[in-house]
Amino acid sequence: MIEIRTPEKNEFEEMFLLMWKMLRKPLGLPKGSEKDGKESLSEFVIAFDDELKKIVGTARLTVYKDNSAEIDKILTDVDHERKGIGSKLIEFLHKKAKEKNKNKIFVIARDYAVGFYKKIGYVPVGDYFITKPTGIKHIRMEKSI
Ligand SMILES: CC(C)(COP(=O)(O)OP(=O)(O)OC[C@H]1O[C@@H](n2cnc3c(N)ncnc32)[C@H](O)[C@@H]1OP(=O)(O)O)[C@@H](O)C(=O)NCCC(=O)NCCS
Repeated sequence: MIEIRTPEKNEFEEMFLLMWKMLRKPLGLPKGSEKDGKESLSEFVIAFDDELKKIVGTARLTVYKDNSAEIDKILTDVDHERKGIGSKLIEFLHKKAKEKNKNKIFVIARDYAVGFYKKIGYVPVGDYFITKPTGIKHIRMEKSI
């Protein structure tokens, strides 16, 4: 079974390692580049595989002073993709955002993840741009919740 939940303190290292493996290592970026200094301001969620006893998905929510919140660091481990895990991680964070009275969620989406966000109801805003340090084309996408 896959549990969608807040990580325990002792799971953070494994979570960051998976973020690095999935989001940074393929771009040739070093361990540590998965962090950006906003960690203490953010809430994390993980997908934990009960049978394999490992984290197979992650995402993060950062709330801002206005009515908005951002979701990033979302991933599903390669052999768990297309099983609904990414959607469940987002759903969990939408609930967290609502609890904090936020009703506009945005993501800075990698071009190849745009279809995923569209399926959940996110709408592209503006043009594509290249982000540092990834060097990959991204676009802002928003959804009202
Ligand atoms: C994008 C990602 C998080 C999606 O996670 P997932 O667990 O596979 O997503 P789900 O199974 O909930 O997918 C829900 C729906 O979104 C759509 N979808 C998923 N990935 C997609 C993609 N890459 N392109 C287009 N549509 C996609 C599908 O329609 C899917 O429904 P279906 O399988 O019934 O057709 C995952 O592919 C991933 O980790 N990618 C690598 C890391 C990454 O790019 N993260 C995003 C950074 S912005």
